[in-house]
Amino acid sequence: MQMGGGSRETWGSKVGFILAAAGSAIGLGNIWRFPYVLGESGGFAFLMIYIACVILIGMPIMGAEMVIGRGSGRNPVGAFRVLLPGSPWWLAGAIGVITGVLILAYYTVVAGWTLAYLYESITGLVNTFNTPEAAQHAFDDFVVNSGKVVFFHFLFALLCILVVSQGVKGGIERWSKVLMPTLFLLLLLLIGRSLTLPGAGEGMKFLFEPDFSKISGEVVLVAMGQAFYSLSLGMGVMITYGSYLDKKSDLFGSTATVATLDMSIAILAGIAIFPAVFAMGLEPASGAGLTYVALPLVFSKLPFGAVLSSIFFLLLTIAALTSAISLLEVMVSFATDELKWVRSRATIIMAALAFLLGVPVALSFGVWSDVKVFGLNFFDLYDYLTANILLPLGGILIALFAGWAWRKGVKEEMLQGTKMGRLYGVWIWAIRIFAPLAVGIILVTNLIG
Ligand code: PHE
Repeated sequence: MQMGGGSRETWGSKVGFILAAAGSAIGLGNIWRFPYVLGESGGFAFLMIYIACVILIGMPIMGAEMVIGRGSGRNPVGAFRVLLPGSPWWLAGAIGVITGVLILAYYTVVAGWTLAYLYESITGLVNTFNTPEAAQHAFDDFVVNSGKVVFFHFLFALLCILVVSQGVKGGIERWSKVLMPTLFLLLLLLIGRSLTLPGAGEGMKFLFEPDFSKISGEVVLVAMGQAFYSLSLGMGVMITYGSYLDKKSDLFGSTATVATLDMSIAILAGIAIFPAVFAMGLEPASGAGLTYVALPLVFSKLPFGAVLSSIFFLLLTIAALTSAISLLEVMVSFATDELKWVRSRATIIMAALAFLLGVPVALSFGVWSDVKVFGLNFFDLYDYLTANILLPLGGILIALFAGWAWRKGVKEEMLQGTKMGRLYGVWIWAIRIFAPLAVGIILVTNLIG
């Protein structure tokens, strides 16, 4: 809406900001990706490493993003320009904005699947997915049905436009304040059902029984990547959301709260899903299909399955929506700050861009399944480029900028409004040395592996 520091929109309340930032972090990454990655990587051991990554790498980088955002009061590109004028650091922000467009493009496709499954749950169709083969077929048939996939992809993009065009306070914050508590309640409901199934204990054991023989270099890498993705780090979401903060807010405290909420929801999603998966005698390591194949099968075998399934896919849609709007907001803040577009125009054009870039992804399971770039279909290409290369790269640049390049002002900005100032010494070395080094290792190992 407005450019210039003074007249920039701000969050209406502290809770509003926390819920919006947590809403960005909590998404398909927690409820769809985390359980299947954990299932494939051996359960508890993965969980422990994941938590360590969130605390040691994720939290320091999130703090760095928020301090850059609040210190500059700008979108990711403008932020680096304001804090270090005349330097090429704005390119780090530009990489972030481009990464955001690409993530949003394929995120809305998967969110569209979720919306379609919500629709099929409400109509009771998922009740017919009652054998492993039927559930798998239903999923395979759906993803090749390009018309339907693109339709739901479009519908989801419209939802994002609806929220973001209403602005930071009136759109993102207002919706997050309704959607996040709803998500939490729905999740508790599912956990209640899942834990009371006969045989649920096996699932809990899988999640919480230590088995450190499963730890390998690869598991560490996967856990780090998941932490990055799940916390929405490395592309400027937290810079953008931080830019709408006032100086009284506590950046250390906000980081700790958002990261804790994000971790908790991932673990709760695991508690909702694994007891049910084990109770039905299914494989925990069944991959990306865990959500769209195993769960409908589980629901079809339960009384009120269609209701439970509707609750679950509504939950997933909500989680996806509050994340997707944060991706869109990065692009919109860029367009309003730098290109001086009005918000409504920026929202529509940017969402349309992401939608169009998402179409090849939507088609990559159907009519375009043979189209390959570097040997990958569009879905894998976008996913690989963003999660494995661009986010870690962005994270390193953000940490190095806050730690080394932005000399004057970072300490004052970080300490304003916080009672946890003693953490500063730990934080600054975490972003100067530890985080860039650790993330650098993931990046290089991914590239050569
Ligand atoms: N954190 C979101 C999730 O877990 C995904 C996301 C990544 C959102 C990067 C914004 C930026 O689903």
